[in-house]
Amino acid sequence: MLTGKNIVLGVTGGIAAYKAADVVSRLKKQGANVYVIMTENSTQFVSALTFQSLSQNYVVTDMFEDPKTWDVEHISLAKRADLFLIVPATANIIGKIANGIADDMLTTTVMATIAPVFFALAMNTKMYENPIFQSNVKRLEHFGYHMILPGAGRLACGDVGAGKLAEPEVIVQAVLDHFNTPKPLLGKKVLVTAGPTREAIDPVRYITNHSSGKMGYAIATEAHKMGAEVILVSGPTQLSPPNGVKFVSVESTADMYQAVMENLDVDAIIKAAAPADYRISIYSEEKIKKSDEEMLLKLAKNPDILKEVGKLKTHQILVGFAAETHNVEVYAKKKLVEKNLDFIVANDVTKEGAGFNGDTNVVTLFDKDGSKTAFDCLEKSEVAKIILEKVISKM
Ligand code: PMT
Repeated sequence: MLTGKNIVLGVTGGIAAYKAADVVSRLKKQGANVYVIMTENSTQFVSALTFQSLSQNYVVTDMFEDPKTWDVEHISLAKRADLFLIVPATANIIGKIANGIADDMLTTTVMATIAPVFFALAMNTKMYENPIFQSNVKRLEHFGYHMILPGAGRLACGDVGAGKLAEPEVIVQAVLDHFNTPKPLLGKKVLVTAGPTREAIDPVRYITNHSSGKMGYAIATEAHKMGAEVILVSGPTQLSPPNGVKFVSVESTADMYQAVMENLDVDAIIKAAAPADYRISIYSEEKIKKSDEEMLLKLAKNPDILKEVGKLKTHQILVGFAAETHNVEVYAKKKLVEKNLDFIVANDVTKEGAGFNGDTNVVTLFDKDGSKTAFDCLEKSEVAKIILEKVISKM
Protein backbone atom coordinates (compact mmCIF):
# COMPACT_ATOMS: atom_id res chain seq x y z
CA MET A 1 0.00 0.00 0.00
CA LEU A 2 0.97 3.63 -0.51
CA THR A 3 -1.15 5.07 2.28
CA GLY A 4 -0.29 8.71 2.92
CA LYS A 5 2.49 8.85 0.32
CA ASN A 6 2.59 12.06 -1.71
CA ILE A 7 3.17 11.22 -5.35
CA VAL A 8 3.59 13.94 -7.93
CA LEU A 9 2.68 12.61 -11.35
CA GLY A 10 3.98 14.51 -14.37
CA VAL A 11 2.17 13.99 -17.66
CA THR A 12 3.98 14.88 -20.89
CA GLY A 13 2.75 15.14 -24.47
CA GLY A 14 2.75 11.63 -25.86
CA ILE A 15 -0.01 9.46 -27.27
CA ALA A 16 0.28 7.25 -24.16
CA ALA A 17 -0.79 10.20 -21.95
CA TYR A 18 -4.25 8.66 -21.57
CA LYS A 19 -2.68 5.69 -19.73
CA ALA A 20 -1.47 8.10 -17.03
CA ALA A 21 -5.13 8.39 -15.98
CA ASP A 22 -5.16 4.66 -15.20
CA VAL A 23 -1.91 5.08 -13.23
CA VAL A 24 -3.47 7.89 -11.14
CA SER A 25 -6.51 5.75 -10.44
CA ARG A 26 -4.35 2.78 -9.35
CA LEU A 27 -2.17 4.98 -7.11
CA LYS A 28 -5.28 6.40 -5.45
CA LYS A 29 -6.59 2.86 -4.83
CA GLN A 30 -3.27 2.14 -3.06
CA GLY A 31 -3.97 5.09 -0.73
CA ALA A 32 -1.54 7.64 -2.23
CA ASN A 33 -2.17 11.38 -2.44
CA VAL A 34 -1.63 12.21 -6.10
CA TYR A 35 -0.79 15.67 -7.46
CA VAL A 36 -0.74 15.97 -11.24
CA ILE A 37 1.36 18.41 -13.25
CA MET A 38 0.66 18.48 -16.99
CA THR A 39 2.88 19.96 -19.67
CA GLU A 40 1.07 22.22 -22.11
CA ASN A 41 1.51 19.62 -24.88
CA SER A 42 -0.04 16.86 -22.79
CA THR A 43 -3.30 18.85 -22.50
CA GLN A 44 -3.73 18.25 -26.25
CA PHE A 45 -4.04 14.51 -25.52
CA VAL A 46 -6.02 14.38 -22.25
CA SER A 47 -7.92 17.08 -20.38
CA ALA A 48 -6.84 18.39 -17.00
CA LEU A 49 -10.37 17.68 -15.79
CA THR A 50 -9.79 13.92 -16.17
CA PHE A 51 -6.78 14.06 -13.85
CA GLN A 52 -8.50 16.47 -11.48
CA SER A 53 -11.47 14.11 -11.12
CA LEU A 54 -9.26 11.04 -10.62
CA SER A 55 -6.70 12.61 -8.28
CA GLN A 56 -9.24 14.79 -6.44
CA ASN A 57 -6.58 17.48 -6.46
CA TYR A 58 -6.16 20.64 -8.46
CA VAL A 59 -4.09 19.93 -11.62
CA VAL A 60 -1.24 22.31 -12.40
CA THR A 61 -0.73 23.05 -16.07
CA ASP A 62 1.02 26.40 -16.29
CA MET A 63 3.48 27.92 -13.86
CA PHE A 64 2.37 31.49 -14.52
CA GLU A 65 -1.28 31.10 -13.69
CA ASP A 66 -2.67 32.48 -10.41
CA PRO A 67 -1.43 30.39 -7.53
CA LYS A 68 -4.19 28.40 -5.85
CA THR A 69 -2.20 28.52 -2.63
CA TRP A 70 0.05 31.25 -1.24
CA ASP A 71 3.11 28.93 -1.51
CA VAL A 72 5.35 29.01 -4.59
CA GLU A 73 3.64 26.07 -6.29
CA HIS A 74 6.57 24.27 -7.89
CA ILE A 75 8.72 24.48 -4.77
CA SER A 76 5.79 23.42 -2.64
CA LEU A 77 5.15 20.27 -4.73
CA ALA A 78 8.88 19.55 -4.98
CA LYS A 79 9.11 19.56 -1.18
CA ARG A 80 5.89 17.67 -0.58
CA ALA A 81 6.70 14.77 -2.92
CA ASP A 82 7.75 11.39 -1.56
CA LEU A 83 8.18 10.31 -5.18
CA PHE A 84 7.92 11.78 -8.66
CA LEU A 85 6.56 9.75 -11.52
CA ILE A 86 6.57 10.96 -15.13
CA VAL A 87 4.05 9.09 -17.32
CA PRO A 88 4.64 9.04 -20.22
CA ALA A 89 8.20 10.40 -20.32
CA THR A 90 8.92 11.60 -23.85
CA ALA A 91 12.33 12.12 -25.47
CA ASN A 92 11.69 15.84 -24.98
CA ILE A 93 11.34 15.76 -21.17
CA ILE A 94 14.32 13.39 -20.87
CA GLY A 95 16.42 15.72 -23.05
CA LYS A 96 15.40 18.78 -21.03
CA ILE A 97 16.06 17.37 -17.57
CA ALA A 98 19.28 15.64 -18.66
CA ASN A 99 20.56 19.03 -19.82
CA GLY A 100 19.28 21.14 -16.95
CA ILE A 101 16.53 22.92 -18.85
CA ALA A 102 13.73 24.10 -16.56
CA ASP A 103 11.26 26.07 -18.66
CA ASP A 104 7.83 24.99 -17.41
CA MET A 105 6.08 23.84 -14.27
CA LEU A 106 7.01 20.17 -14.63
CA THR A 107 10.71 20.62 -15.43
CA THR A 108 11.21 23.25 -12.71
CA THR A 109 9.47 21.06 -10.12
CA VAL A 110 11.44 17.93 -11.06
CA MET A 111 14.68 19.86 -10.87
CA ALA A 112 13.78 21.37 -7.50
CA THR A 113 13.00 18.06 -5.78
CA ILE A 114 15.21 15.72 -3.79
CA ALA A 115 12.57 12.96 -3.96
CA PRO A 116 13.27 9.93 -6.17
CA VAL A 117 12.13 10.51 -9.76
CA PHE A 118 10.87 7.69 -12.00
CA PHE A 119 10.48 8.18 -15.76
CA ALA A 120 8.14 5.74 -17.56
CA LEU A 121 9.61 6.02 -21.06
CA ALA A 122 7.38 5.98 -24.16
CA MET A 123 8.13 7.08 -27.70
CA ASN A 124 8.67 6.00 -31.28
CA THR A 125 11.19 3.14 -31.64
CA LYS A 126 13.66 5.14 -33.73
CA MET A 127 13.55 7.97 -31.20
CA TYR A 128 14.08 5.43 -28.41
CA GLU A 129 17.09 3.95 -30.17
CA ASN A 130 18.54 7.36 -31.04
CA PRO A 131 22.00 7.56 -29.43
CA ILE A 132 21.34 11.14 -28.26
CA PHE A 133 18.29 9.96 -26.32
CA GLN A 134 20.13 6.91 -24.97
CA SER A 135 23.02 9.07 -23.80
CA ASN A 136 20.54 11.43 -22.06
CA VAL A 137 19.03 8.42 -20.27
CA LYS A 138 22.50 7.28 -19.15
CA ARG A 139 23.25 10.78 -17.91
CA LEU A 140 20.06 10.86 -15.85
CA GLU A 141 20.73 7.38 -14.47
CA HIS A 142 24.19 8.53 -13.49
CA PHE A 143 22.56 11.26 -11.37
CA GLY A 144 20.27 8.70 -9.69
CA TYR A 145 17.06 9.09 -11.72
CA HIS A 146 15.13 5.86 -12.29
CA MET A 147 13.83 4.57 -15.62
CA ILE A 148 10.79 2.35 -16.11
CA LEU A 149 11.69 0.86 -19.45
CA PRO A 150 9.19 0.61 -22.30
CA GLY A 151 7.96 -2.66 -23.68
CA ALA A 152 8.10 -3.70 -27.32
CA GLY A 153 5.09 -3.94 -29.59
CA ARG A 154 3.13 -2.14 -32.24
CA LEU A 155 3.21 1.60 -31.52
CA ALA A 156 0.56 4.21 -32.31
CA CYS A 157 2.75 5.48 -35.18
CA GLY A 158 2.61 2.05 -36.84
CA ASP A 159 6.24 1.14 -36.10
CA VAL A 160 6.94 -2.13 -34.34
CA GLY A 161 9.67 -2.22 -31.67
CA ALA A 162 10.69 -0.80 -28.30
CA GLY A 163 8.99 2.35 -27.06
CA LYS A 164 5.59 1.21 -25.84
CA LEU A 165 4.77 2.62 -22.39
CA ALA A 166 4.99 -0.04 -19.66
CA GLU A 167 1.55 -1.20 -18.57
CA PRO A 168 0.01 0.86 -15.72
CA GLU A 169 0.22 -2.10 -13.32
CA VAL A 170 3.98 -2.42 -14.05
CA ILE A 171 4.47 1.31 -13.39
CA VAL A 172 2.57 1.17 -10.10
CA GLN A 173 4.48 -1.98 -9.10
CA ALA A 174 7.79 -0.11 -9.60
CA VAL A 175 6.49 2.53 -7.16
CA LEU A 176 5.37 -0.12 -4.66
CA ASP A 177 8.75 -1.92 -4.96
CA HIS A 178 10.52 1.35 -4.25
CA PHE A 179 8.65 1.92 -0.99
CA ASN A 180 8.59 -1.74 0.08
CA THR A 181 12.31 -2.51 -0.35
CA PRO A 182 13.81 -2.69 3.15
CA LYS A 183 16.56 -0.13 3.70
CA PRO A 184 18.79 -1.72 6.37
CA LEU A 185 21.75 0.43 5.31
CA LEU A 186 19.93 3.76 5.58
CA GLY A 187 22.26 6.32 7.19
CA LYS A 188 25.35 4.14 6.53
CA LYS A 189 28.22 4.88 4.19
CA VAL A 190 29.79 2.09 2.15
CA LEU A 191 32.98 2.26 0.09
CA VAL A 192 33.28 -0.34 -2.69
CA THR A 193 36.19 -0.89 -5.06
CA ALA A 194 35.73 -2.63 -8.40
CA GLY A 195 37.42 -3.54 -11.63
CA PRO A 196 41.02 -3.94 -12.68
CA THR A 197 43.75 -1.32 -12.59
CA ARG A 198 46.05 -0.45 -15.48
CA GLU A 199 49.80 -0.03 -15.11
CA ALA A 200 51.23 1.87 -18.04
CA ILE A 201 54.39 0.52 -19.69
CA ASP A 202 54.70 3.30 -22.26
CA PRO A 203 52.18 5.69 -23.87
CA VAL A 204 50.53 2.82 -25.81
CA ARG A 205 50.78 -0.29 -23.60
CA TYR A 206 49.75 -1.35 -20.13
CA ILE A 207 49.52 -4.33 -17.78
CA THR A 208 46.08 -5.30 -16.50
CA ASN A 209 43.90 -8.33 -15.65
CA HIS A 210 40.52 -9.86 -16.55
CA SER A 211 38.35 -8.09 -13.97
CA SER A 212 35.22 -6.64 -15.59
CA GLY A 213 34.04 -4.77 -12.49
CA LYS A 214 30.74 -6.71 -12.42
CA MET A 215 31.21 -8.07 -8.88
CA GLY A 216 32.02 -4.66 -7.38
CA TYR A 217 29.30 -2.84 -9.35
CA ALA A 218 26.75 -5.41 -8.15
CA ILE A 219 27.75 -4.74 -4.54
CA ALA A 220 27.52 -0.96 -5.07
CA THR A 221 24.08 -1.32 -6.71
CA GLU A 222 22.66 -3.54 -3.96
CA ALA A 223 24.14 -1.36 -1.19
CA HIS A 224 22.47 1.69 -2.74
CA LYS A 225 19.16 -0.21 -2.95
CA MET A 226 19.52 -1.04 0.75
CA GLY A 227 19.69 2.69 1.48
CA ALA A 228 23.45 3.19 1.86
CA GLU A 229 25.35 6.20 0.68
CA VAL A 230 27.77 4.46 -1.68
CA ILE A 231 31.17 5.51 -2.97
CA LEU A 232 32.33 3.31 -5.85
CA VAL A 233 36.03 3.54 -6.71
CA SER A 234 36.46 1.82 -10.03
CA GLY A 235 39.27 0.98 -12.37
CA PRO A 236 38.60 1.08 -16.14
CA THR A 237 35.57 -1.05 -17.11
CA GLN A 238 32.90 -1.20 -19.83
CA LEU A 239 30.11 -0.74 -17.26
CA SER A 240 27.97 2.34 -16.59
CA PRO A 241 28.17 3.61 -13.03
CA PRO A 242 25.17 2.39 -11.03
CA ASN A 243 22.31 4.79 -10.22
CA GLY A 244 22.76 7.12 -7.32
CA VAL A 245 26.28 6.19 -6.23
CA LYS A 246 29.22 8.56 -5.93
CA PHE A 247 31.53 7.34 -8.67
CA VAL A 248 35.31 7.77 -8.54
CA SER A 249 37.11 6.64 -11.67
CA VAL A 250 40.75 5.57 -11.33
CA GLU A 251 43.40 4.09 -13.59
CA SER A 252 46.34 2.62 -11.67
CA THR A 253 46.72 0.92 -8.28
CA ALA A 254 48.41 4.10 -7.00
CA ASP A 255 45.29 6.10 -8.05
CA MET A 256 43.02 3.56 -6.37
CA TYR A 257 45.14 3.71 -3.21
CA GLN A 258 44.76 7.48 -3.08
CA ALA A 259 40.98 7.40 -3.77
CA VAL A 260 40.44 4.79 -1.04
CA MET A 261 42.57 6.68 1.49
CA GLU A 262 40.53 9.84 0.83
CA ASN A 263 37.28 7.99 1.57
CA LEU A 264 37.98 6.03 4.75
CA ASP A 265 35.33 7.84 6.79
CA VAL A 266 32.68 5.18 6.08
CA ASP A 267 30.94 2.32 7.93
CA ALA A 268 32.05 -0.49 5.61
CA ILE A 269 34.75 -1.02 3.01
CA ILE A 270 34.34 -3.82 0.49
CA LYS A 271 37.32 -4.42 -1.79
CA ALA A 272 36.13 -6.39 -4.82
CA ALA A 273 38.65 -4.76 -7.16
CA ALA A 274 41.57 -6.62 -8.65
CA PRO A 275 44.37 -4.03 -8.38
CA ALA A 276 47.64 -4.89 -10.09
CA ASP A 277 50.24 -5.96 -7.52
CA TYR A 278 53.09 -4.64 -9.64
CA ARG A 279 53.77 -1.61 -11.83
CA ILE A 280 56.53 -0.92 -14.31
CA SER A 281 59.74 0.20 -12.54
CA ILE A 282 60.57 2.83 -15.11
CA TYR A 283 57.78 4.14 -17.32
CA SER A 284 58.98 4.92 -20.83
CA GLU A 285 57.82 8.38 -22.01
CA GLU A 286 58.20 7.17 -25.60
CA LYS A 287 56.82 4.06 -27.27
CA ILE A 288 59.26 1.20 -26.72
CA LYS A 289 60.45 0.01 -30.14
CA LYS A 290 60.50 -3.70 -30.76
CA SER A 291 63.78 -5.49 -31.36
CA ASP A 292 64.64 -9.05 -32.33
CA GLU A 293 65.97 -9.71 -28.86
CA GLU A 294 64.14 -10.86 -25.78
CA MET A 295 62.71 -8.03 -23.75
CA LEU A 296 62.64 -7.91 -19.98
CA LEU A 297 60.27 -5.67 -18.04
CA LYS A 298 61.33 -4.75 -14.55
CA LEU A 299 58.42 -4.45 -12.13
CA ALA A 300 58.09 -2.60 -8.84
CA LYS A 301 55.70 -3.59 -6.05
CA ASN A 302 52.46 -1.60 -5.73
CA PRO A 303 51.00 -0.77 -2.34
CA ASP A 304 48.62 -3.39 -0.95
CA ILE A 305 45.64 -1.08 -0.46
CA LEU A 306 43.63 -3.51 1.64
CA LYS A 307 46.53 -4.24 3.96
CA GLU A 308 47.11 -0.52 4.52
CA VAL A 309 43.41 0.03 5.24
CA GLY A 310 43.53 -2.94 7.65
CA LYS A 311 46.25 -1.15 9.63
CA LEU A 312 44.27 2.11 9.78
CA LYS A 313 40.76 0.78 10.35
CA THR A 314 38.88 1.77 13.49
CA HIS A 315 35.11 1.16 13.41
CA GLN A 316 34.79 0.16 9.73
CA ILE A 317 33.69 -3.35 8.71
CA LEU A 318 36.45 -4.42 6.33
CA VAL A 319 35.77 -7.04 3.66
CA GLY A 320 38.35 -8.37 1.22
CA PHE A 321 38.20 -10.74 -1.71
CA ALA A 322 40.63 -13.51 -2.58
CA ALA A 323 40.89 -14.54 -6.21
CA GLU A 324 42.73 -17.85 -6.16
CA THR A 325 43.52 -20.67 -8.59
CA HIS A 326 44.66 -23.23 -5.95
CA ASN A 327 44.91 -23.69 -2.17
CA VAL A 328 41.92 -21.36 -1.92
CA GLU A 329 41.19 -21.87 1.77
CA VAL A 330 44.80 -21.57 2.91
CA TYR A 331 45.48 -18.37 0.96
CA ALA A 332 42.11 -16.80 1.81
CA LYS A 333 42.60 -17.40 5.55
CA LYS A 334 46.14 -15.98 5.34
CA LYS A 335 44.81 -12.78 3.72
CA LEU A 336 41.99 -12.58 6.29
CA VAL A 337 44.54 -12.40 9.13
CA GLU A 338 47.33 -10.45 7.42
CA LYS A 339 44.98 -7.74 6.16
CA ASN A 340 43.00 -7.48 9.45
CA LEU A 341 39.64 -8.21 7.75
CA ASP A 342 36.25 -8.91 9.31
CA PHE A 343 35.64 -11.49 6.63
CA ILE A 344 36.96 -12.49 3.21
CA VAL A 345 35.10 -13.61 0.09
CA ALA A 346 37.13 -16.33 -1.63
CA ASN A 347 36.52 -17.25 -5.25
CA ASP A 348 38.34 -20.00 -7.08
CA VAL A 349 38.63 -18.29 -10.45
CA THR A 350 39.26 -21.60 -12.25
CA LYS A 351 35.75 -22.87 -11.36
CA GLU A 352 32.91 -22.87 -13.88
CA GLY A 353 30.71 -19.81 -13.24
CA ALA A 354 33.18 -18.18 -10.84
CA GLY A 355 35.41 -15.14 -10.83
CA PHE A 356 36.22 -12.81 -13.69
CA ASN A 357 33.89 -11.42 -16.30
CA GLY A 358 30.76 -13.57 -16.02
CA ASP A 359 27.46 -12.62 -14.39
CA THR A 360 27.80 -15.32 -11.72
CA ASN A 361 30.24 -16.22 -8.98
CA VAL A 362 30.95 -19.16 -6.68
CA VAL A 363 32.15 -17.92 -3.30
CA THR A 364 33.07 -19.09 0.18
CA LEU A 365 33.02 -16.64 3.08
CA PHE A 366 35.66 -17.00 5.79
CA ASP A 367 34.93 -15.04 8.94
CA LYS A 368 37.53 -13.84 11.46
CA ASP A 369 35.53 -15.80 14.10
CA GLY A 370 36.66 -18.98 12.30
CA SER A 371 33.36 -19.80 10.56
CA LYS A 372 33.17 -20.77 6.90
CA THR A 373 30.12 -20.60 4.58
CA ALA A 374 30.22 -21.94 1.03
CA PHE A 375 27.67 -21.00 -1.64
CA ASP A 376 26.68 -22.56 -4.96
CA CYS A 377 26.96 -20.69 -8.23
CA LEU A 378 24.84 -17.51 -7.89
CA GLU A 379 24.21 -14.31 -9.85
CA LYS A 380 26.69 -11.64 -8.78
CA SER A 381 23.72 -9.54 -7.56
CA GLU A 382 22.78 -12.41 -5.20
CA VAL A 383 26.38 -12.76 -4.01
CA ALA A 384 26.37 -9.00 -3.38
CA LYS A 385 23.24 -9.30 -1.20
CA ILE A 386 24.81 -12.15 0.83
CA ILE A 387 27.95 -10.09 1.44
CA LEU A 388 25.95 -7.00 2.44
CA GLU A 389 23.69 -8.99 4.77
CA LYS A 390 26.81 -10.26 6.53
CA VAL A 391 28.16 -6.71 6.73
CA ILE A 392 24.83 -5.56 8.25
CA SER A 393 24.90 -8.38 10.80
CA LYS A 394 28.32 -7.13 11.93
CA MET A 395 27.39 -3.45 12.18
O1 PMT B 1 35.34 -7.87 -11.75
P1 PMT B 1 34.71 -9.21 -12.11
O2 PMT B 1 34.97 -9.58 -13.56
O3 PMT B 1 33.27 -9.27 -11.72
O4 PMT B 1 35.49 -10.34 -11.27
C1 PMT B 1 35.35 -10.41 -9.89
C2 PMT B 1 36.69 -10.65 -9.18
C3 PMT B 1 37.22 -12.01 -9.53
C4 PMT B 1 37.71 -9.57 -9.60
C5 PMT B 1 36.39 -10.52 -7.63
O5 PMT B 1 35.46 -11.50 -7.28
C6 PMT B 1 37.67 -10.72 -6.82
O6 PMT B 1 38.05 -11.81 -6.44
N1 PMT B 1 38.38 -9.59 -6.50
C7 PMT B 1 39.69 -9.61 -5.85
C8 PMT B 1 40.76 -9.82 -6.87
C9 PMT B 1 42.14 -9.78 -6.26
O7 PMT B 1 42.87 -8.85 -6.50
O8 PMT B 1 42.38 -10.74 -5.42
P2 PMT B 1 43.77 -10.85 -4.57
O9 PMT B 1 43.63 -12.16 -3.90
O10 PMT B 1 44.92 -10.61 -5.47
O11 PMT B 1 43.67 -9.68 -3.54
C10 PMT B 1 43.14 -9.85 -2.21
C11 PMT B 1 42.46 -8.59 -1.76
O12 PMT B 1 43.40 -7.52 -1.66
C12 PMT B 1 41.35 -8.10 -2.68
O13 PMT B 1 40.28 -7.64 -1.89
C13 PMT B 1 42.00 -6.97 -3.44
O14 PMT B 1 41.05 -5.96 -3.78
C14 PMT B 1 43.01 -6.43 -2.44
N2 PMT B 1 44.23 -5.86 -3.03
C15 PMT B 1 45.02 -6.60 -3.83
C16 PMT B 1 46.18 -6.06 -4.35
C17 PMT B 1 46.52 -4.75 -4.03
N3 PMT B 1 47.63 -4.18 -4.50
N4 PMT B 1 45.72 -4.03 -3.22
C18 PMT B 1 44.59 -4.57 -2.71
O15 PMT B 1 43.85 -3.89 -1.99
